Amino acid sequence: MRNRDRKIFGVFLAITLILATGVTLSARSTSKENKGAMEITKEEFGHTPDGRTVNLYTLKNANGMTVKITNYGGIVTELMVPDGSGRLGDIVLGFDNLKEYLAGDPYFGALIGRYGNRIAKGKFTLDGKAYSLATNNNGNHLHGGIKGYDKVVWSASEVRSPEGVGLKLNYLSKDGEEGYPGNLNITVVYLLTPMNELKIDYAATADRPTPVNLTHHSYFNLAGAGKGTILDHEVMLNADAYTVVDASLIPTGEIRKVSGTPFDFTKPKTIGAEISKVEGGYDHNFVLTRKAYGLQMAARVYDPTSARLMEVWTTEPGLQFYTGNFLDGSIKGKCGLVYPKNGGFCLEAQHYPDSPNHPEFPSTILNPGATYRQQTVYRFDIKK
Ligand code: GAL
Repeated sequence: MRNRDRKIFGVFLAITLILATGVTLSARSTSKENKGAMEITKEEFGHTPDGRTVNLYTLKNANGMTVKITNYGGIVTELMVPDGSGRLGDIVLGFDNLKEYLAGDPYFGALIGRYGNRIAKGKFTLDGKAYSLATNNNGNHLHGGIKGYDKVVWSASEVRSPEGVGLKLNYLSKDGEEGYPGNLNITVVYLLTPMNELKIDYAATADRPTPVNLTHHSYFNLAGAGKGTILDHEVMLNADAYTVVDASLIPTGEIRKVSGTPFDFTKPKTIGAEISKVEGGYDHNFVLTRKAYGLQMAARVYDPTSARLMEVWTTEPGLQFYTGNFLDGSIKGKCGLVYPKNGGFCLEAQHYPDSPNHPEFPSTILNPGATYRQQTVYRFDIKK
C-alpha cells in the first residue's frame, strides 16, 4: 500500500470504528432505557379547605411517558407524551397547583360521576319513585351535580402489575349525595402501560338501584396544552349516529344518522372543517358503531404539527365529543398559558346523556348484586 493509500485507509478505518462504536453505544443506551423500570412516585399536592391532605402521583414508563394524577377528583394534571421527533410535551389542560383546581374549573382532567353529562331538570323516576337531583347547569343536572366526583378526595393506593404502573382510587358515594339513591362504592384504576396507553378501569356496586354513568374528562391538545386551538386536528369517530339535543344540550330522544351532516367523522376530517355549521361547536354524544360487546376503537385523533396520534378504545356505547366551546381565554392554566375557545377537546366514553329519562337508550341503572364496569383506553403514538 502506498503512503497516500495507507492514510486514506486509516481515515476510513477510524470513521468506521467511530460509527460502529456510536451505533453500539446508542443501541446499549436504548436497550437500557427499554429495560428501565416503570416508576410511580408520590408527593404532597396540598390541602382541602377542611384540612385533608391531597397527593400527586407520577406514573412513568420506560419510554419517558409520564402521567400525573391527583387523588383530588382523580384529576389527570399532566400527560407527557413524545412527538414525532421524540420530544415530550404536556398534552392536557390543567393547573400547576391544587389551589387553582379548588377554585373551580370546567372539569379539567377529572373523574365524573355519579352521572356524566346531563339529566334533564335533575329529575327521573325509578321503580315508581321520583328523584330530584342537584341542578347546576341551566336548571339541569350536570356531571354529578354541585359536588360531583371531580371535587371529592379519593383514597388512593399505588398499583404495580405486570401490565404497568397505576393508581387505584376508591370513593364511597353516600345514599342521598346530590340526590342520588343508594350508597355507591366506586373503584377506578388508572394504569400506564409500556405501550404508551393510559387505561382507565371503573367498577362500582350499589345497595339500591341507581343510575351510574362514570367517565373521564381530560381536555387534550395534541400540539401541547396552551398551544392554540385543536381545529386543525384530524378526527375519526367510529360512530354512524348521534343523539340530537335541544338548546340546553338535553337529548330530544332522536338518534340521527351522521351521514351527510357535519357530524360525519367516519372518515378523518379536521375538527375545524365543518364546526361553523354546528351551533356552539361539537358537544354531542356519538353513538358508537358496535358489532359486539367489549373493548373497541371509538376514535382516532391526529395532530399534523406534532405528528402525535391518539386512539380511544372503550367498552361504552357512547362518546361525548366536546370541542372546548365554553373555553374563552379567561382561564390561565399551567405555566401561565391561556386556554382559548377550542383550546382542547374531550372524548368522554360513557352512556348517553339523560338516559334515566329515555327508556329507549341503553340502561344506566345499576342494581344491587350487579357490578358496573367500564374500561376506556387512551393510546398514544406518532404517525410514521
Ligand atoms: C362537557 C359537556 C359540556 C360542558 C363541559 C364542561 O362534558 O358536554 O356541555 O358542560 O363538559 O364545561
